Amino acid sequence: MDPELKRAAELAAEYIESFDTQKVTSEPDPEVLAAKLRKELTADGLPPLQVLEELNRDAREGLLNSAGGRFFGWVIGGGIPVSIAADWLTAAWDQNAAAYACSPSAAIVEEIVGGWLKDILGLPEQASYAFVTGCQMAHVTGLAAARHRILADKGWSVSEQGLAGSPPIRVLVGTHHETLVRALRQLGIGRQALVHVAKRDDDTIDVEDLRNQLGKSPESPTIVALAAGDLNRGAFDPFGPVCDLAHEHGAWVHVDGAFGLWVSSSDRFRHLVSGIEKADSWATDAHKWLNVPYDSGIAFVADPVAHKSAMTIEACYKVEVEGVRDQFEWGPEWSRRARGFPLYAALRSLGRNGVAHLIEGCCDRAHELVTGLGQLPGVEVLAVPIINQGLVRFLDPAGTDHDAYTDAVITCINATGEAWFGPTTWNDMRVMRISVTNFRTSQEDVPRVIAAVKGVLDQGVSNPSDRSSTPLSKK
Ligand SMILES: Cc1ncc(COP(=O)(O)O)c(C=O)c1O
Repeated sequence: MDPELKRAAELAAEYIESFDTQKVTSEPDPEVLAAKLRKELTADGLPPLQVLEELNRDAREGLLNSAGGRFFGWVIGGGIPVSIAADWLTAAWDQNAAAYACSPSAAIVEEIVGGWLKDILGLPEQASYAFVTGCQMAHVTGLAAARHRILADKGWSVSEQGLAGSPPIRVLVGTHHETLVRALRQLGIGRQALVHVAKRDDDTIDVEDLRNQLGKSPESPTIVALAAGDLNRGAFDPFGPVCDLAHEHGAWVHVDGAFGLWVSSSDRFRHLVSGIEKADSWATDAHKWLNVPYDSGIAFVADPVAHKSAMTIEACYKVEVEGVRDQFEWGPEWSRRARGFPLYAALRSLGRNGVAHLIEGCCDRAHELVTGLGQLPGVEVLAVPIINQGLVRFLDPAGTDHDAYTDAVITCINATGEAWFGPTTWNDMRVMRISVTNFRTSQEDVPRVIAAVKGVLDQGVSNPSDRSSTPLSKK
């Protein structure tokens, strides 16, 4: 065996085993880290094992232990070992998953996984799909199909005629992630096409306002973008009524289900996505909540003709094989990694119940964490998790500036290395977001993290906005 491969496996296993004992945080001095990594590029190279050992040594300090169980920032999943291992095989096999002819196994595995996913996620059997880098590119793929269809319905071929002079598209949105807007921009549908529909107090789209907006310009080619699990509190739009209404107006419904779509796998949470199968396209990824390594987004489209028309490509050198699925007909890329293998391994290993268990476990831990933090003096719970996301803030004991104090407390918690949380702004307040998206977050982690937060609050945090403030412990 090549010694580098053997050593890499040892180093990777050792890294993963160290999560419980290592600090979560990584806050190196960027200059020191860069100086460590910035080696001379030699003319003749170096022994591979030396390169590997030095990479492992020099990069470690700048690795955020986001793959461990006490990381709650952004929405970042872990990696279940079998999918990491299948990802290693994918790298070793080094297949080009552009087409069946380049790798029959890669093509067939993606076809199998596409079917399994539609089943687990409760999506229509006839829907087509594409494996892409992440939810961002899943938006691009689903919205490209949308653009194709809604313009074709007005007699305009975007593939042939482009966008200049086409009927202007409008996109009605409620709560949305910025990757949706970037996907629209990439597709030549600028920000001005966005129409912000009113939101209800629970951060879901207001159906009556949507009805009004749809009625305002009934001739416009229209996309309605919905959220299955918004990034702050995990709110779910009312899919059934919105899809019925949008379809009455000839609009296309696109769903951002980056992480929230996975609740379809759970008997306990499936009601949240009721009616979602009526939408026209769905964007999600597996690198968040299915806990496969990064580079795993998936787009699904209910209208395979629109999907294929938007994505397919001709090449004089392509090798035709009768009766097979060529991936380049469905995704935005040509040469690419065989993304299906880690997904295949994860789904086979977990099974339906295992996926549901993973999802439910994260939701339970999120609930325990948020409500547990809420028991601490000075912690206000703003959003109890609907699924795996919750929001709290820290009340400034001086009562002057809860926003600055919340930011300061988060910084102090992260500095302990016991946990990592991200700040965000929600309803004009600075808040701490808690996202549990990793199967590694255990029941034991919950009291450990709450104790770390309590320790920070007991010790006292000075509010940077209050010059006269002293640490709580000294008051
Ligand atoms: C709701 C939502 N949509 C889309 C995205 C973008 O996903 P990706 O980073 O896989 O492109 C995220 C990322 O966190 C998200 O939370």
